[in-house]
Amino acid sequence: MDTKRLHIFCLTFISLLYFSTSFIPTNNFLINCGSNANISFYNRIFIADSAKSGSVFLSAERSVSLTDPNPSSNSPILYHTLRVFTTDSSYKFNIKKNGTGTHLVRLHFSPFQAQNFNLVSAKFNVVVNGFLLLSGFSANSMLLKEYILKIDGEVLEIMFSPVGDSGFAFVNAIEVFSVPKDFIIDDGARLVNGDGIEEYKNLTSQVLETIHRVNVGGLKLTPFNDTLWRTWIPDDGFLVFKPSAKGAVTTHVPNYQTGGATREIASDNVYMTAQQMNRNNSALNARFNITWDFPVGSHGAPHLVRLHFCDIVSPALNLLYFNVYINDYSAYQDLDLSMLTYHVLSSPVYIDFVADSDDSGVIRVSVGPSDLSSPSKINAILNGAEIMRLVNLKGFNAGSKKKNVWILVGFILGGFVIFCLAAVAVLLAFKSKKKKLKPPRHAESAGWTPLRVYGGSSYSRMSGGTVTTSPGANGYHSLRIPFVDIQTATNNFDKSLIIGMGGFGMVYKGVLRDNIKVAVKRGVPGSRQGLPEFQTEITVLSKIRHRHLVSLVGYCEEQAEMILVYEYMEKGPLKNHLYGSKHPPLSWKQRLEICIGSARGLHYLHTGSAQGIIHRDIKSTNILLDENYMVKVADFGLSRSGPCLNETHVSTGVKGSFGYLDPEYFRRQRLTDKSDVYSFGVVLFEVLCARPAVDPLLAREQVNLAEWAIQWQKKGMLGKIVDPNLVGQIKPSCLKKYGETAEKCLAEYGVDRPTMGDVLWNLEHALQLQESEPEEPREDSNVNGMDCPTPSVAPSSNARTAKDDGSGSSDLTTSKVFSQLVMNEGR
Ligand SMILES: *[C@@H]1O[C@H](CO)[C@@H](O)[C@H](O)[C@H]1NC(C)=O
Ligand SMILES: *[C@@H]1O[C@H](CO)[C@@H](O)[C@H](O)[C@H]1NC(C)=O
Repeated sequence: MDTKRLHIFCLTFISLLYFSTSFIPTNNFLINCGSNANISFYNRIFIADSAKSGSVFLSAERSVSLTDPNPSSNSPILYHTLRVFTTDSSYKFNIKKNGTGTHLVRLHFSPFQAQNFNLVSAKFNVVVNGFLLLSGFSANSMLLKEYILKIDGEVLEIMFSPVGDSGFAFVNAIEVFSVPKDFIIDDGARLVNGDGIEEYKNLTSQVLETIHRVNVGGLKLTPFNDTLWRTWIPDDGFLVFKPSAKGAVTTHVPNYQTGGATREIASDNVYMTAQQMNRNNSALNARFNITWDFPVGSHGAPHLVRLHFCDIVSPALNLLYFNVYINDYSAYQDLDLSMLTYHVLSSPVYIDFVADSDDSGVIRVSVGPSDLSSPSKINAILNGAEIMRLVNLKGFNAGSKKKNVWILVGFILGGFVIFCLAAVAVLLAFKSKKKKLKPPRHAESAGWTPLRVYGGSSYSRMSGGTVTTSPGANGYHSLRIPFVDIQTATNNFDKSLIIGMGGFGMVYKGVLRDNIKVAVKRGVPGSRQGLPEFQTEITVLSKIRHRHLVSLVGYCEEQAEMILVYEYMEKGPLKNHLYGSKHPPLSWKQRLEICIGSARGLHYLHTGSAQGIIHRDIKSTNILLDENYMVKVADFGLSRSGPCLNETHVSTGVKGSFGYLDPEYFRRQRLTDKSDVYSFGVVLFEVLCARPAVDPLLAREQVNLAEWAIQWQKKGMLGKIVDPNLVGQIKPSCLKKYGETAEKCLAEYGVDRPTMGDVLWNLEHALQLQESEPEEPREDSNVNGMDCPTPSVAPSSNARTAKDDGSGSSDLTTSKVFSQLVMNEGR
């Protein structure tokens, strides 16, 4: 085989892939400063900023355009011009709100020999929306400064202020563009400081300054090779002991998965190369670390350390276990990439850590073998590393009122951060003392994947202002919220804030002191009814964190109150977006993604711990959507730990919701994770057909959705009962896969049903079929014909929606039946 040709083919294929999936920022401002001409730089057009060219971004009273009289041949044209400011001057960019908030800001500096200005002597501050990013800064060579920040307002202002004797500031080029929403997420980063691993929260409230971006084991990558036009440099210069590492490379494109790392997190090339342990080197014994020292220039400052992994070295799953250390502290013990990637090999993930630079001003990263690895399979890898400084939220500048507001905001935020840090420090001190006295947490001994499953995937919010420092190393004690705070948050349980009603009690919308929106679920005060459910939910939710599972913000057990506080899910239950409300219909792709997300959450619930957890009440009202239609599974009140290894099921009273109930569980009271799979199958059909699981008002053969849909599926005519809103949207191959998957979930006996992992895989496959399969237009029109409901056979969605509106009768019936079930069980 001509490997060279193969290689070229692969590269071409990859670049084609790039092309077809390239990222388009919602907000994208590229400025060629001090110039009259737009120029192209790495295939992107930078716009001239001179008044003559009609630039609207610059507001400067006194500024000068300079052009390099003797440009060197190796400096890019972008750097041949610059703008000099002799007073405070700023660029303002209007930020479209449908952007995602998080933006990259890049400032290019490249001083040259100019007549009237000694550019290398310039000294200035740069303030972006009140954040002092550069202070007393000078650029004496070509420099690129990159920041990641979240913009809440509608304007991004970059201000240059000369300081000191030089009396001027300058800049050659500016980039401001939005990045995907999950580029930096608030929580889930692991704080590594030697006191055990804590979660570092609210990353997005900080500005991050990129210090190093390293393609470990690979070549330099330029903006041409990167979806966000980043530069990645090789790691050789950072390796502490070069012979310890051996490069690894693959020609296979990484297996990106929904929820894992994306091409925007790091480009293919980063994941296709790695360093691994160089065990051939006879001078080394079998167990050693590979260590990199990243100089950061500041002592004791907090940094985000983002490590990228993709197992390109193992021939199969479950062979690679290794440890990650930062600054010689354990940062991730027994890292098992197979587990993090839901058992897909060569699937990219990243893990965020927050650590302080040490006394010598470096961040030290090591990877080394875990005790879990079998002696013949010892290895450890790293594919990429990014080191970003957390910039202090310090705002200041002289000038207009507006700027003063920023100063104030800056100081308040700064004060708040200091306060939080102090509070965290107190808490940590307290905890570490306690920990020594208490046995290890049960959750840890049960083998939970700590905090984060997928790179950047865990969401958990603790309200900074409301957390009490009550004792207890048990994790959830720190989630305790005083009753008065909940009263304030809900305007003393204002009826107008009620957003739901469950068996447990009312659900209110609330806002905690620190402006975190929450859903407050209040048990009927005084009644201890539901106490077991209440406790289950706290126990379960305090142990798990997953992108697709609703997280617990806190709880209150005071004055006969039982209150659970969750993260608020803006768009509410999935059910409301399927039928019986005025919400616009979800597209087929949205629905598929929602199903995939839910499946992922459930898969984690089932397999994330040694015992596994069974949800027991999967239904479309327990599947919630956030403002971006990101899905999270909620309501763990009924969940139970799964069977132990030597048992196959858990015997238990029948609980759950009518219409979603596993018939086997119902008959034999045998609970397995396959009971959840059954319920999920019902949800799949609910999503496809946009009708309730049980609708007593329909003709008898249609009442039970599962039975009805299975009949059509078996006849191969599922297209006839598809939600009319989806007509023409679903590709036949996708519908086929989806229908088969749902059908398998609904198998009569649990053993015949797929695992949640299989369901997830099949749904992802369905999405792929929907997205990528080239199908002939002819077939497409067939789909239309197939999906188009003839009035006589599709009485489901449209007709029903009208009746459902307002009456809510079907739901009522459901809950009546449900409470009967529960009562029967009690007898
Ligand atoms: C990066 O892009 C350049 C220009 O397109 C190309 O020549 C080079 O091979 C790419 N490098 C990698 C590692 O893909
Ligand atoms: C790897 O480094 C860590 C932290 O310095 C250390 O505790 C551990 O013993 C090292 N492992 C090996 C095999 O040298």
